[in-house]
Amino acid sequence: MSYSFFMENKWILPLFVSLIITLLSLAAAAKPALPPVFIFGDSTADVGTNNFLPHSMARADFPPNGIDFPGGPNPTGRFSNGLNSADFLARLFGYKRSPSPFLSFKYSSLQKKMFNGINFASGGSGLLDITGRTMLTLMKFGTGNIPLGVSFRNQQKHVISLTDQMHQFSSVKNNLTTLMGVKPTEKYLKGSLIFISIGSNDLFAYYHSKSSIPKEDFLCSLELAYENHLKTLYDLGARKFGIISVAPIGCCPSQKIFNATEGCLEELNEYAIAFHLKLEALLCKLSTEYEDFMYSLGNSYEMTINVIQNPLLFNFTEVESACCGSGKLNAESFCKQGSNLCSDRNQYLFWDRFHPSQAASKLAAITLFSGGQPFVSPVNFYQLAMA
Ligand SMILES: *[C@@H]1O[C@H](CO)[C@@H](O)[C@H](O)[C@H]1NC(C)=O
Ligand SMILES: *[C@@H]1O[C@H](CO)[C@@H](O)[C@H](O)[C@H]1NC(C)=O
Ligand SMILES: *[C@@H]1O[C@H](CO)[C@@H](O)[C@H](O)[C@H]1NC(C)=O
Repeated sequence: MSYSFFMENKWILPLFVSLIITLLSLAAAAKPALPPVFIFGDSTADVGTNNFLPHSMARADFPPNGIDFPGGPNPTGRFSNGLNSADFLARLFGYKRSPSPFLSFKYSSLQKKMFNGINFASGGSGLLDITGRTMLTLMKFGTGNIPLGVSFRNQQKHVISLTDQMHQFSSVKNNLTTLMGVKPTEKYLKGSLIFISIGSNDLFAYYHSKSSIPKEDFLCSLELAYENHLKTLYDLGARKFGIISVAPIGCCPSQKIFNATEGCLEELNEYAIAFHLKLEALLCKLSTEYEDFMYSLGNSYEMTINVIQNPLLFNFTEVESACCGSGKLNAESFCKQGSNLCSDRNQYLFWDRFHPSQAASKLAAITLFSGGQPFVSPVNFYQLAMA
């Protein structure tokens, strides 16, 4: 399975040359300081993975994305005016920002870097491998109501599915084992933090494809997929899981424009709540099944709805429309050059029609790191790291 995966992906092979270099520098830099951080998921955590997929339309590597990036405007591929939650989480753990995308690892850029982790997240991906393809179909034949752009060319990779992200992580583990040996690799992975932020695209695709699959069956299939991915990571040696559930996605500007009163799409929000409950039950089960399985579950729904209901408490003045876009709620088109752009970007909850602003991402990361119930449980991400 891995073999054909690598053969099919010509960008993977040169990558390993650079990984070897990276891993060697890891082996050399013996002092364990910060916990290594491995990040999986969709556009909420993508820090440039899709820039390496020429046929992906779920990309943000053009202005005005990145307009507030630290050090000056820089469209890195993040779906944000600056950093995203993956960056702020990494920062709270002592790093400058998120580790680089797996696909970016290059000989030259890595010599100086310590091996602190990798970001595998890819915009447009879902728990189910078919999520990207569903959206493709919707775009071709559907309502035009597509959450994230996807390529028309089915043959080309337009997203790194969560399954592919697992394959990539597995290859990293193999490389670590070759370089450090079995025991040190085990120890290294045991102390690593695994962050996963995924699920929104599955719910969007299900909702907008008007699937005939009953809601409960669909949610169970998501839970099962999550279980399989988590077991894969556990079997590879990961033990500490920081899981971020789905926000009230019916309140995204892109969805509100389909409500005549511009309120939230309640059905999508109900999916998000139901998804969280499933996730809670799943994680509880896994932690009893596997004694050393540790987790922290962030309740994105509660966190975000709290801000939407009390914006001023969090210094937001605009929680309805997107900062960058056009049309109704500034949400009828993607954020691109020439879009309407708000000036008070720190006061906007939404950067574009789907994604939180840098300010909102920062708030979310702080809550995950140091918050308590009902926003993050049974422990927060800091306590998870210390456990
Ligand atoms: C790293 O893993 C890849 C794929 O599993 C493999 O081709 C490569 O030889 C490995 N490198 C080392 C140093 O183990
Ligand atoms: C549209 O928004 C209103 C609140 O403004 C809400 O009561 C209603 O249920 C929403 N409609 C849908 C289809 O979600
Ligand atoms: C809101 O802004 C005030 C004044 O700048 C600041 O003291 C407060 O900490 C901010 N609150 C949040 C939640 O960021």
